[in-house]
Amino acid sequence: MVAVAILAAGKGTRMKSGLPKVLHQLGGRSLVEWVIRSIEPLPISHTFVIVGYQAESVQIALQDYPHLTFVQQQQQLGTGHAVQQVMPYLEGFEGELLVLNGDVPLLRTETLEQLLETHRTESNQATLLTAQAPDPQGYGRVFCDSNNRLTQIIEHRDCTPAQRQNHRINAGVYCFSWPALAQALPRLTSANDQQEYYLTDVVNHLSPITALDVEDFHETLGINDRRQLAEAYEVLQTRIKDRWMMAGVTLIDPDSITLDDAVDLGADVVIEPQTHLRGRTAIGAGCRIGPNSLIENSQVGAGSTVLYSVLTDSQVGEQCRVGPFAHLRGEAQVGDRCRVGNFVEIKKSQVGDRSNVAHLSYLGDATLGQAVNVGAGTITANYDGVHKHPTVIGDGTKVGANSVLVAPLTVGSGVTIAAGSTITEDVPDGALALGRSRQVVKPDWTPRSIQPPTP
Ligand code: UD1
Ligand code: CA
Repeated sequence: MVAVAILAAGKGTRMKSGLPKVLHQLGGRSLVEWVIRSIEPLPISHTFVIVGYQAESVQIALQDYPHLTFVQQQQQLGTGHAVQQVMPYLEGFEGELLVLNGDVPLLRTETLEQLLETHRTESNQATLLTAQAPDPQGYGRVFCDSNNRLTQIIEHRDCTPAQRQNHRINAGVYCFSWPALAQALPRLTSANDQQEYYLTDVVNHLSPITALDVEDFHETLGINDRRQLAEAYEVLQTRIKDRWMMAGVTLIDPDSITLDDAVDLGADVVIEPQTHLRGRTAIGAGCRIGPNSLIENSQVGAGSTVLYSVLTDSQVGEQCRVGPFAHLRGEAQVGDRCRVGNFVEIKKSQVGDRSNVAHLSYLGDATLGQAVNVGAGTITANYDGVHKHPTVIGDGTKVGANSVLVAPLTVGSGVTIAAGSTITEDVPDGALALGRSRQVVKPDWTPRSIQPPTP
């Protein structure tokens, strides 16, 4: 049986942030969420998350993971003190405890499996994940004897200059035999530079301990400041992009593109430069997205193009052309084979199949049938200053250019609205509606300003 403790109680002083460190975002998930996801495929009996600084916001951020047990660490007296907090929960537990730092987000599940396996085959009391870090600044250094038996872990700040030459770092990822750790935890003291109870000091009370070097040191990146957050983001982006390119997606100028982890891309999707796909975004097969587009929590059907546009919380059907310069937001739903063109904003509206809103329009709280043509410059006036009102437009209706549709309003099917109309009353099926003043022509008229002054 394996239990897990994730340390997430610290403030993260070096982030210089109002947000607890473990809630900082990395590719669409918080740091601690990454850690939780890395253990998800493992057979685990309990998962404890040690919370303290802004405990409530950490718990709220993790409410989608109902199997977690939150354990309070009222005062953050160090990583060892943090693990001491699970002792009452694990009385009589005979299995292993995996301890993970909540600020080490890039660990792979396979690495944790290897750690567990090493722990078991070597019958250790503790097994540590280590890495050879090119820049070990800030990490605890791990010292082993010639048999790879761990002798000491010394925090960077407690190291002598000579000890700092050791690039083998403690990843903050440990496997312990719980009965042995439970004996060692009460023996920790805070005799160090920070006067904290260091988890790493338990190694002085356990034996045997070995260290397992992870091949890719990026997995062990700990996030203590915003530079490390940016470094981890870069590593994550490379992983995500490599995965999609291997799955048959073309990225043109990958360095200028960012993809969140939850994004899903179909076969033969082409992503053009300066495009950013965020959250739960899904792009259907054969789409061409970008250049210069931002798509967030939105779905785009197969064979569509999105050019220089912003889509948030919206859906676009198949074979559509969106942009350049369209903005879809707040549950905009566009059907199949539609055109949403230049300088068009659509908010909380449904647009039926084969409808076009091609130029300079705003649709808000509107429901359009199929094959509707919305002329250039058409606006739904949905807001009376207090409430938002709906507009309904039936199939095959043509709205003339530069019309204002004052909601609440229902326009039937097969209607024609004359260009330049302000429509305030419902229009039945098949009608022509004009809502503008008749043109006046005054022949032979000279503007007053250029008439000769009267003497
Ligand atoms: C720790 C390790 C260091 C290792 C590094 C790897 C110790 C003493 N040092 O250092 O050897 O190289 O991680 O990234 O463990 N936390 C609590 N309660 C506390 C203190 C911290 O829950 O009282 C949590 C933090 O929220 C964080 C994690 O523990 O998620 C690690 O704490 P941090 O202060 O970042 O430790 P490091 O100095 O990075
Ligand atoms: Ca850290």
